[in-house]
Amino acid sequence: MGFPHVRARRLRQSDAWRRLVRETRLSRDDFIYPLFVVPGRRVRHPVESMPGVAQLSVDECVAEAKAVADLGVPAVILFSAPSEKDARASAFLDPGGLVPQAVKAIKAAVPQLLVWTDVCLCSATDHGHCGHVLPSGAIDNDSSVETLAQVALVYARAGADAVAPSDMMDGRVLAIRQLLDRNGHATTPIVSYAAKYASAFYGPFREAADSAPAFGDRRSYQMDPANAREAVREVIADVEEGADLVMVKPAGPYLDVIRRVRESVDVPVVAYQVSGEFSLIKAASSRGWIDERAAAFETLTGIKRAGADLIITYFAPDMCRWL
Ligand code: PBG
Repeated sequence: MGFPHVRARRLRQSDAWRRLVRETRLSRDDFIYPLFVVPGRRVRHPVESMPGVAQLSVDECVAEAKAVADLGVPAVILFSAPSEKDARASAFLDPGGLVPQAVKAIKAAVPQLLVWTDVCLCSATDHGHCGHVLPSGAIDNDSSVETLAQVALVYARAGADAVAPSDMMDGRVLAIRQLLDRNGHATTPIVSYAAKYASAFYGPFREAADSAPAFGDRRSYQMDPANAREAVREVIADVEEGADLVMVKPAGPYLDVIRRVRESVDVPVVAYQVSGEFSLIKAASSRGWIDERAAAFETLTGIKRAGADLIITYFAPDMCRWL
């Protein structure tokens, strides 16, 4: 009973039909927008590799947060690039630091906008790694976890709506949960970058967050792009440690991982369409080689179809305009 009784094109013949049978729909409620906080006032320093994205001083972050909230973006995630860097990422332990300042200012100005904070050490360390470096050059897991938990507490105390550890050390979710709970922040959710790969697609971000490693690479802590079963293990471990949401990152090259993770846990799954995924589309569209808007819709639809509930993307404001 195949063709000619069966004709798949019957349900594709008009926009009205296509609307009716569409399986995946993007919505403004899906997106989280990254902001990069830098020192100073009235600073809007464009990130050359990411057209439309800028490093912003705290006051400009507030203006940007207002603008994206007006477009319907439900949440932002804050990164910072402090000017003082040292071996221990001390700048991130300062309650008066860039991220705590930005959290307070944004929550005061736009209370309905959720403010997530990325928790990592790389953009405040002089060596650019995501944890503490031992004399041997190895990254020390357990002391890094202690510092990461302290950073998360600083952000929770500033009023962050969620803390999002992106370092890929083992046991950081449990350590963060315990420290937050002991200090009166049992209600602050943890968004775990649970399956974060050692990816070539972070290049432009490292310009934005000034966080490139000074030596070596991140392959001893971020995941091998070849592994998918391991992602399931990472995600289950993080949920057991208390993660409220889990993330797969990058998104586009890891759609199978998003699908497997979605089928393995019941917590919301976040996918991060990272800087390189964004910059590829921007670069090709600026040359007229690709339609930016159609490519943004197609990649984000694919990520949602794979199983992501939420997507962190530099297209968030544009998507809210286009939808
Ligand atoms: C920090 C961090 C990175 C990204 C988010 N958090 C970079 C890295 O691990 O090197 C990448 C985000 C992007 O590329 O958009 N650890």
